[in-house]
Amino acid sequence: MRAAAIKVSHVAKTFGGSRAALADVSFGIERGEMVALIGASGSGKSTLMRAIAGLVQIDAALRPGYGEPVEGSIEILGETMQRDGRIGGSAKNLRSRVGVVFQQFNLVPRLSVLTNVLTGSLGRVPRWRGTLGLFAHVERQRAMAALTRVGIAEQALKRGSALSGGQQQRAAIARALTQGADVIIADEPIASLDPSSARCVMDILADLNRTERITVLVSLHQVEYALRYCARTIALRAGRVVYDGPSAALTPAFLAELYGAESEALFLPGLADSSAPADAISPSPSPSPPTPAAAPWAQPPSLDGLLPVPA
Ligand SMILES: Nc1ncnc2c1ncn2[C@@H]1O[C@H](COP(=O)(O)OP(=O)(O)OP(=O)(O)O)[C@@H](O)[C@H]1O
Ligand SMILES: [Mg+2]
Repeated sequence: MRAAAIKVSHVAKTFGGSRAALADVSFGIERGEMVALIGASGSGKSTLMRAIAGLVQIDAALRPGYGEPVEGSIEILGETMQRDGRIGGSAKNLRSRVGVVFQQFNLVPRLSVLTNVLTGSLGRVPRWRGTLGLFAHVERQRAMAALTRVGIAEQALKRGSALSGGQQQRAAIARALTQGADVIIADEPIASLDPSSARCVMDILADLNRTERITVLVSLHQVEYALRYCARTIALRAGRVVYDGPSAALTPAFLAELYGAESEALFLPGLADSSAPADAISPSPSPSPPTPAAAPWAQPPSLDGLLPVPA
């Protein structure tokens, strides 16, 4: 059996002496899935995504009550990214298979877009060549192909700082493609974008997921995008998974409880202003049907009143 794209087992993360940012998080994401990660501010989304990308070291072990310690681990494509509080030996190679897109600050402002995207191949070119900017013709072609794929080839020679927010996110996706990523981790990639740029970025992620079978884990503040683009949603609350199942089964009551005071601002402005047809993107099929976590407060499927129906 092929290994899962992402396997998170008993992951905990505590910063200093504070309350755990992540407390016993476990789930698997199959290759070719596109999964949304949602949760209120501070619920642990970024910490989890950074841990998956090998940028945050998880706690060595989890101690449930007075029981035996349980080792936490994160595996990517069957290889250990981290285990027992240590970044694994194969992490360096693995990192090149995981493309990361953040909410902002994705590009080095004074470097050209092309050079920014070429840094995606730094895992492959000898360090001295990368540092000196001596990228081979074939690497430049690869980067240009990636920029073309995300629709901003004509911006290649501009400085990173000259791009709009949406274009910067597209360049970050191009960088992930150039590095040959099989998995893309996108942490609130559309949070700072206007609706049309947000749709464009999500469309690109969905297209790469569908056509290239790139596995996508995307954290989203805007729940309507999770519903539209991702067949499966994982919800975090206070560092724990409280829902893991079909996005279509998320209910207004669940979301209101999940987001608490944030909820009104989050789902009232929906996709009603969207000019894209509702069926422009159909959620990608998930290879193995996800199962809802045993969350006592996860409700049975009902979409009534959840979202304004797009025109
Ligand atoms: N580097 C850090 N040092 C100390 N505490 C941190 C650090 N990073 C995150 N935390 C804490 O961990 C918890 C989870 O934070 P995290 O950024 O993962 O949440 P989030 O779900 O991404 O929130 P948001 O929606 O606001 O981005 C919060 O309580 C936060 O204060
Ligand atoms: Mg965050």
